[in-house]
Amino acid sequence: MSITSFRESDRPLPVTFQALQEKKQSGQPIAALTAYDYATARLVDEAGIDLVLVGDSLAMVVMGYESTLPVTVDEMLHHTRAVRRAVRRALVVADMPYGSYHSGIEQAVANAVRFVKEAGAQAVKIEGGAARAELVERLTAAEIPVVGHLGLTPQSVHRMGGYKVQGKTTAAIAELLHDAHTLEAAGAVLLVLEGIPREVAARITSEIGIPTIGIGAGPDCDGQILVFHDLVNLSFTPAPKFARHYADAASLFRDAIENYRRDVEDRAFPSDRESYHLPREASVALGPSAVRRA
Ligand code: KIV
Repeated sequence: MSITSFRESDRPLPVTFQALQEKKQSGQPIAALTAYDYATARLVDEAGIDLVLVGDSLAMVVMGYESTLPVTVDEMLHHTRAVRRAVRRALVVADMPYGSYHSGIEQAVANAVRFVKEAGAQAVKIEGGAARAELVERLTAAEIPVVGHLGLTPQSVHRMGGYKVQGKTTAAIAELLHDAHTLEAAGAVLLVLEGIPREVAARITSEIGIPTIGIGAGPDCDGQILVFHDLVNLSFTPAPKFARHYADAASLFRDAIENYRRDVEDRAFPSDRESYHLPREASVALGPSAVRRA
């Protein structure tokens, strides 16, 4: 049994995009993290993280796919709803999965509306640069705040030829700067910068007015985001250079599971104290007991 409801009086002041904008202006870093389910989202929120992203990285770290491409809108909605139920303070942003905004603006807007209306997301994130400007404008006009995502965009894995650091040539840097300015002009409220050199992220961050959130983009962004499973060592892959393990959940869980299995096999779990008992009269009526007291 667990407590899944909150008392109204416990409700902390919710984070807004305006508050993140103020953080950029006052030089206070923004802390963001992904989450995909109720339990972890609740911990993330209670730890004071500003923004929870229901990332399409869940295709890899939760569902075991080799890329983010297979996850569907319905699967993303399912996880976004679970996160929404857990989060009281942080902003909840949902990733639009691959294919959900690539076949026309009308389809993209209809899918984005589902994230807000059916799952309670406060914004959607889409990958890509200037080519997404019209979509960002349309979503903004539909009252849906948009988070852009530039640099190493995992949904472009085939076009990029793998997960490679982007923005390393003069032409690529110029394109990233153009993309960042174009998305800002189109109405994006935040930009995720992934897998680009520190110097390039610093330049974008200083040139644009909206906050940048980096992942593998160095310390000069306005904020940072990590994949939850990388943070706690649950991703079963060698950690990327930019990820830091703040805990070893794999070892913690493995030890707990092995200890449980051992206790069950040794009949050390459950004990008599962990069992329910009949009231005395019913116990007498049942007759001599075969219960072996631990
Ligand atoms: O899907 C995701 O987790 C992301 C973050 C890496 C920014 O897009």
